[in-house]
Amino acid sequence: ATAPTSWDKPLEGKVAVVTGAARGIGATIAEVLSRDGAHVVCADIPAAGEALSETANKVGGTSLALDVTAEDAADKLATHLLERHGGADIIVHNAGITRDKTLANMDDSRWNMVIGVNLLAPQKITDHLVAKGALKPGGRVIDVSSIAGIAGNRGQTNYGTSKAGVIGLVQATAPVLAEKDITINAVAPGFIETAMTAAIPFATREAGRRMSSLLQGGQTVDVAETVAYFASPASNAVTGQIVRVCGQSLL
Ligand code: NAI
Repeated sequence: ATAPTSWDKPLEGKVAVVTGAARGIGATIAEVLSRDGAHVVCADIPAAGEALSETANKVGGTSLALDVTAEDAADKLATHLLERHGGADIIVHNAGITRDKTLANMDDSRWNMVIGVNLLAPQKITDHLVAKGALKPGGRVIDVSSIAGIAGNRGQTNYGTSKAGVIGLVQATAPVLAEKDITINAVAPGFIETAMTAAIPFATREAGRRMSSLLQGGQTVDVAETVAYFASPASNAVTGQIVRVCGQSLL
């Protein structure tokens, strides 16, 4: 095989879905995939409102109100993709939440919400899209894990467990999806400057920044470019992998 002569628009003609695309890392992933030529379906909860349509307009894509934990979420997405686009090529499971508490105060509702959004939804949606043929052969599944799923973080037993689960999910699913000519990989970001991390107390936030391999917090684009690699033909032969972005290098 020969190397392509140009990577100018590696995703030209592809359809990509990004969940949690209204803001933060998801909005930047939508921008970068669109820059690379993909039509991006920007999905987020109905409450995201204007922010979601702003992202979709900015990237020249479409917006889709989708709570990934809704009973009919997988079916709604599959139907949307098949009817509007004849299926998708790329799905990025970026939607994620935190509900931090010390372990002693960690109640069932916090566990269930975080596991539901961060771990169960990506699994159910991927399974359903593949079963319905809404993710095409040659397709890409890209999950967003976290350094918290590798190293653990005080006050984040639920979140860390969900993100560690994503790593198990990616590794276990890779050989199954390989039979359908679909890859699945994950990014595990360290500390990235977004609304999610702005909610963390100052001292913890500073400690997170200092623990980064680059000794500073990452930007959303750092994560988005790694996602773009997993979406592109450059990673044709890569599956079941977890890449840390701005994660601690010594762990
Ligand atoms: P954010 O809170 O700024 O954005 C998350 C987006 O997901 C929001 O637009 C929100 O409306 C959406 N969302 C939440 N629940 C949803 C649901 N049920 N259905 C659909 N959309 C939903 O968060 P941020 O920082 O951009 O994080 C994005 C992803 O990156 C998450 O999975 C997060 O866990 C992960 N991550 C973030 C890190 C950071 O330092 N910011 C570090 C490691 C991982």
